[in-house]
Amino acid sequence: MYLHDAKLSIRMGARFGPLPQNIVRRGMSSMTRFGREVANILQAGDTVALVGELGAGKSNLVRLIMEKMTADYDYFVTSPTYTIANVYPTTPRVAHLDLYRLKTSDDFYALGCEEYFDKDTITLVEWADLLPEVIPQNALWLGLIKVGACDRRVVMADSYAELMNYMNS
Ligand SMILES: Nc1ncnc2c1ncn2[C@@H]1O[C@H](COP(=O)(O)OP(=O)(O)OP(=O)(O)O)[C@@H](O)[C@H]1O
Ligand SMILES: [Mg+2]
Repeated sequence: MYLHDAKLSIRMGARFGPLPQNIVRRGMSSMTRFGREVANILQAGDTVALVGELGAGKSNLVRLIMEKMTADYDYFVTSPTYTIANVYPTTPRVAHLDLYRLKTSDDFYALGCEEYFDKDTITLVEWADLLPEVIPQNALWLGLIKVGACDRRVVMADSYAELMNYMNS
């Protein structure tokens, strides 16, 4: 598995303050700003592991993170719930995965999905908590919790265990 030289979470920490972080984003415009901030620090080789219930806003956040890239290339970001992986030939390449329909890590490897975690790719994974064992060590874990129709609590952590601690507290 490729390990990035500088951990994504350290760069996130430099930008947003030390992890874990727990911030309420009030409304779409605040979430849009957050998506842009995340996009600004992501580099090839990074993985963002997204966690949150149905409709929490995982796909929406991926769309916001990819907003600039998709505008440059004129791509429309759709949810990969049925395709499992959507890959965008941007620079760097972006792989958008959704683990919702996978039952075990064997399914994940049988589909060859580990090839999306590589040094030339930014990998954004929805439902990462369903198969945390397949997610690279250097991933940034990002949880979304609905706290109102348009407000979301955003939790950022270094690991799955830490994220779960903070999401459940
Ligand atoms: N502040 C917000 N941030 C994110 N989404 C929001 C916000 N306010 C409202 N929404 C709405 O919440 C919905 C989130 O849907 P989205 O498909 O992104 O969820 P998801 O977590 O990907 O769900 P699924 O598990 O089905 O893939 C969208 O309809 C979006 O417009
Ligand atoms: Mg989704």
